[in-house]
Amino acid sequence: MNSVNDRFGLRSLDIEALRARDGAKWQSRQARFSAWVADMDFPVAPAIADAMRQVIDQNAFGYPNWGGPYALSPAAKLFGQRMSDRYGWELRPDRVSDMIDVLQGVRATVLHLSKPGDGVVLHMPAYHPFLDTVSDMSRRLVPVVQREGGFDYDALETELAVSGASIWILCNPHNPLGYVFGRAELERIAEIAERFDLIVISDEIHADLTMPGYTHVPFESLGPEASARAVTLASGSKAFNLAGLRWAVMHTGSDRMQAVFDGLPGHYFGAPNLMAVTATVAAWTHGDEWLAAVIEVLDENRHALTDLLAQHLPGVGYQPPQATYLAWLDCTALGFGSDPAQLFHERGVALSAGPDFGPQGAGHARLNIATSPSVLASTIKAMAS
Ligand SMILES: Cc1ncc(COP(=O)(O)O)c(C=O)c1O
Repeated sequence: MNSVNDRFGLRSLDIEALRARDGAKWQSRQARFSAWVADMDFPVAPAIADAMRQVIDQNAFGYPNWGGPYALSPAAKLFGQRMSDRYGWELRPDRVSDMIDVLQGVRATVLHLSKPGDGVVLHMPAYHPFLDTVSDMSRRLVPVVQREGGFDYDALETELAVSGASIWILCNPHNPLGYVFGRAELERIAEIAERFDLIVISDEIHADLTMPGYTHVPFESLGPEASARAVTLASGSKAFNLAGLRWAVMHTGSDRMQAVFDGLPGHYFGAPNLMAVTATVAAWTHGDEWLAAVIEVLDENRHALTDLLAQHLPGVGYQPPQATYLAWLDCTALGFGSDPAQLFHERGVALSAGPDFGPQGAGHARLNIATSPSVLASTIKAMAS
């Protein structure tokens, strides 16, 4: 691939170098191709690598000078500007907090703002740690299921009228469906949340990976009523491929919710990691050209996958994701049973198992397309081998 089109080395990944790379994606599954966990194969943005190198060169691994042990990190301070610039959402800087990761914020909110036995609404299939959150905390799953034409909110309302709920974990963009909730659908969600008095935890970790032609609308940007019952979680970790560094950010939409978190003991949430914050600041200030190049490759891959599947695995149902680099493959027509990822693993390809995402994941597998076009093509060929 020529260097003009591949300034960041996104299209020329060396499969042997990937196989030798440390980390769960390539080391934990013993497969020739690893397309499961939500990490990208791409090298990070040069600005991130430079910023990390500077910390190393300065030997600056001590406590950071951010204004005291409970001061906001520079990454958290940047969050408001980034939301305003990218999505027109004007948040409240005094309601922003550092988190170690997004799931910490999700779990802390469920733990402290609901009680055992309460219902938690989830669009199904659902990212499995959300399902675990519900069961680990003895909450009750209230599923929103898909029918022809979209999610069935009428059925949800009927269910809420009977048994109630206190939390809705909204994953937008959605993992594993790669679905982007449009404004009208978000408004319906907000209206249901208002009527049934639900707190909405809006996990927007994949927002910056929204594909051309789609628009990410932060839930809290819908207006003051929606915001007042919402907690938003975000991070640079998915779009900039930093998941192992551990950092995320939380915004609460009301003083009442913020007071609950402020009332917890100091250091209850730990303190942010210097390397993660350094990387996120570099990403959010100098990484957008790299991000645009990544989105170009992902956009190409999500369309190429339609042809690759038609050619090598006809019968697999697939809609190109509207956001994220996660492709949700409906393998029911192949007759590979409820967990087709097992068979693909025997063929040397590690995918995420559909049933992990709930009963609606039976017969499905999740494929990670964040790799070079040629590695993606080899992966699909191996799946068909
Ligand atoms: C929707 C969603 N939320 C949260 C996470 C995990 O984020 P973190 O590692 O910050 O907890 C992921 C990781 O893939 C994800 O897809």
